[in-house]
Amino acid sequence: MVKAYSRTQIFLHWAVALLILFNLIFSDAMTALWRQIEHTGPTPTTTGAWVHIFVGVAVLGLVAWRLALRVTRGAPHVPAGTHALLKFAGDAGHIALYALMIALPGTGLFAFFGGFETLGDLHGGVLKALLWALIALHVGAAFYHHLVLKDGLLNRMRKSG
Ligand code: HEM
Repeated sequence: MVKAYSRTQIFLHWAVALLILFNLIFSDAMTALWRQIEHTGPTPTTTGAWVHIFVGVAVLGLVAWRLALRVTRGAPHVPAGTHALLKFAGDAGHIALYALMIALPGTGLFAFFGGFETLGDLHGGVLKALLWALIALHVGAAFYHHLVLKDGLLNRMRKSG
């Protein structure tokens, strides 16, 4: 078992976090284009929508790299003394985050390039809401560890080993 995340794992965590937040916050161009396609049929893709697609594809690629590293290199144990329930919640949360980081761009790509309307609804509806909720829980948990438990967990995503 490794003692710390590697420099690459830390870089990928923050790069993917930024790209995901960018697409969650700035999705108006894609929403507008998708509405128009649904109402009036084929519509030229706007620059804003291309940026959304490009960022989504980048997320997919970087998450695949991240998962490969996670499987081959592993991740450090939770800090000693962490309650079993908290460890379980952390592991489950990370698995759910990985699943959503693939499902969200994946459904978007199939909806846009394959014309699957239901996947588009899923992408901009339930999946997006779930990812926002999980990110809020994830960030809340990270700061709970840092500020209340003071177990140095946040530093694991700052310093490599
Ligand atoms: C301010 C924002 C964030 C903070 C402070 C933060 C903090 C952390 C910390 C401290 C860890 C290490 C947990 C451990 O060592 O057990 C971690 C892991 C992780 N984070 Fe974040 N994170 C943030 C944003 C995000 C976002 C936006 C995502 C994805 C949508 C994300 C996905 C993950 C995943 C999947 C892991 C597990 C990594 C692994 O063990 O393979 N994080 N985060």
